[in-house]
Amino acid sequence: MTEDETIRMPEAADRPVDPDALTEEDREFDIALRPRTLDEFVGQERVKEQLHLLIDGARKRGEGVDHLLFSGPPGLGKTTLARIVAHEMGAGFQPTSGPALDRPSDLAAILTNLEHGDVLFVDEIHRMPRPVEEVLYPALEDFNLDVVLGKGPTARSIRLELPRFTLVGATTRPGRLTLPLRERFGFSPRLDYYSADDLAKIVMRSAGILTVPVHGDAAAEIARRSRGTPRIANRLLRRVRDFAEVRHDGSVTLEVAAAGLEVFEVDDQGLDRLDHSILATLIDKFGGGPVGLSTLAAAVGEETDTVEDVVEPYLLQLGFLRRTPRGRVATEHAYRHLGTSVPGTLPL
Ligand SMILES: Nc1ncnc2c1ncn2[C@@H]1O[C@H](COP(=O)(O)OP(=O)(O)O)[C@@H](O)[C@H]1O
Ligand SMILES: [Mg+2]
Repeated sequence: MTEDETIRMPEAADRPVDPDALTEEDREFDIALRPRTLDEFVGQERVKEQLHLLIDGARKRGEGVDHLLFSGPPGLGKTTLARIVAHEMGAGFQPTSGPALDRPSDLAAILTNLEHGDVLFVDEIHRMPRPVEEVLYPALEDFNLDVVLGKGPTARSIRLELPRFTLVGATTRPGRLTLPLRERFGFSPRLDYYSADDLAKIVMRSAGILTVPVHGDAAAEIARRSRGTPRIANRLLRRVRDFAEVRHDGSVTLEVAAAGLEVFEVDDQGLDRLDHSILATLIDKFGGGPVGLSTLAAAVGEETDTVEDVVEPYLLQLGFLRRTPRGRVATEHAYRHLGTSVPGTLPL
């Protein structure tokens, strides 16, 4: 901690939460549709089983849960699981985020306001500044906090004892965490994209909560086009609901779902405008690559981070894109999907 970092104690609640670029609507629905218990949480069976064990074990011993790190692309349920852990432990939930923890005193203020057993949730934890991270280490290991009071020659350091808490970190970029921070988590599951079956269950569950009549085959269609992501499944369900209510009688049949998704420019693989624009730019402007990530992002007018965290993982998973040491390359699948002929072959 630097000299002028005298401790302030703002309310932990007044800091920004969730820096993701979510719309207001997303945020509201995220809250309404969020499962509250592990049993309500669909899919990710392995991670659920592991968390069950961790939570039951901690409960039996009357202790808190070990510090946890959830990683994976946006919208797969990291924040939801963090809340579930707190709920299952009957513990308080204190959310903040890496970027909101600007200075060590910001973290100190939050830590000293925690209650015994609380879950401290740090979203986008890879964006926490280094000096803040260093304050966190002793807090995680020994539940101690070293603070410097005052400035200059009269400054003195005191050690505060913190309540036993559980840190739950979430990150889209586990590779960006420093090794010492990563090593302080007792369990670090990675969430993977969901199967179409699990997403269909999520769509049916959400449809029930929103009271939208959705046919099973329509739910399956929405699921198939959701890029393996629950948040997108919920978003597409809302778009299709609008379409069904305005253009039809409100009930979501397979035909209505397919037509609605077409209007909102989601293709049959779940790719949206941004995915298309990236693939088309890569193919048309850069001859299929290789092209550097930042050049590609600039060409489509997007942030590098958005392209890397949000768009690419799914295109990689579909096999439409490859990362090479010299840059991004479009695969044959991508050419076919866009209906462009692959260089060196006959036109389709
Ligand atoms: N396994 C799941 N079952 C049901 N709904 C889910 C599941 N995972 C995520 N969701 C829903 O998807 C939305 C996004 O989840 P969230 O936890 O905010 O994702 P992340 O924090 O990873 O970006 C929320 O509305 C959440 O309720
Ligand atoms: Mg989140």
